[in-house]
Amino acid sequence: MAAPTPADLADLDAKDPLARFREAFDLPDGLIYLAGNSLGALPKAAAARLEAAVRAQWGSRLVEAWTACGWIEAPARVGGKIARLVGAAPDEVIVADSTSVDLFKLIVAALEARPGRQVLLGVKGEFPTDVYVAGEAARLCGRRLALVERDELEAGLNEDVALLVLTHGHYRTARLFDMGQVNARAHAAGALVLWDLSHSAGVAEVDLSGSGADLAVGCGYKYLNGGPGAPAWLYIAERHQALLTSPLAGWMGHAAPFDFAPDYRPAPGIARFLCGTPPILSLTALEAAIDLMLEAQVPAMAAKARRLGDVFLELAAERCPALEPIVPGPGQMRGGHVAFRHASAGAILADLGRRGVVGDLRGDVLRFGLSPLYVRYQDVGRAVEALTAALAAAPLKVG
Ligand SMILES: Cc1ncc(COP(=O)(O)O)c(C=O)c1O
Repeated sequence: MAAPTPADLADLDAKDPLARFREAFDLPDGLIYLAGNSLGALPKAAAARLEAAVRAQWGSRLVEAWTACGWIEAPARVGGKIARLVGAAPDEVIVADSTSVDLFKLIVAALEARPGRQVLLGVKGEFPTDVYVAGEAARLCGRRLALVERDELEAGLNEDVALLVLTHGHYRTARLFDMGQVNARAHAAGALVLWDLSHSAGVAEVDLSGSGADLAVGCGYKYLNGGPGAPAWLYIAERHQALLTSPLAGWMGHAAPFDFAPDYRPAPGIARFLCGTPPILSLTALEAAIDLMLEAQVPAMAAKARRLGDVFLELAAERCPALEPIVPGPGQMRGGHVAFRHASAGAILADLGRRGVVGDLRGDVLRFGLSPLYVRYQDVGRAVEALTAALAAAPLKVG
């Protein structure tokens, strides 16, 4: 199929049901920002709400703002909103800590809930923090982390596996697991599954409840646009909540934090996975961003992210044959970015930056995030034009 023409791209933008959301973001004029898979852009509402939280809440209400301004409920309230993006019930998601810390808490809790089983199973080549945390959590629990190739996952699932940890969308290849199928196979082997949705929540359709998911975590600062260092979120299916306890028994996870009791008594629901005081300013920005996403709705965001990726791949195949795509092709299931291998990836990225296109680099791989609320089809056209020029200027390197 021929790649879209500039007129086709203009037409796609004109008919884009999400086009109006671009105005809701503060983006420098003329910049084509394709790194929302790393740090989402600034929603204008987040800046306004932060200003209000700083001046009218922190500045005026001081400590009483914890109750008067809904600060203390923020982790559960924002979690309940994120739940709607990932197909979960409101009391199955809470905002807390970072993705890495949430992975640790859930891995340890799940291993402890499966005492007879020795193995924590994962796949090779996942995002480093997932592997580092899994390795240490397994060691602390006296278990073993086994990493297998993606295609060998099914063979690796046996009666010794306590927990399977997987990223739903891969950070380099954007490949998506079939969540329902993996959950069903793991459950048949008696294992639990913990999903990292950092590269799929907000850009792909996710149905945690419908797919029978046990546990999940996800990042707040990428596609959720929650701002630099935004807190992460975690999901625990309702059926597991009373059976799992956090290894980080902090006061905010206590059943009655303000009783200041000498003994730890976990909160009855998912709140037991809170640890310390929530970062209210970051939560404020995250909530503003999530409100925008709820307005846009997941099916529209997922469809646009996929179409933007298809267009990028079709144009790049025609204009930039020297780039080796490493993501699923047009029409296939994919996360929110496209990525290409090239021996001169670093030089190409630097050149793109000078041409006003921001992507990112993972080793010899160029990544371009296609956040559906602010990336336009014509931005993709311009980015591929810039890539074509950058490739023509790139130093010749082999291998
Ligand atoms: C798949 C995945 N998980 C986790 C993280 C890191 O999460 P955090 O910085 O919130 O610990 C990243 C960061 O890029 C990631 O890509």
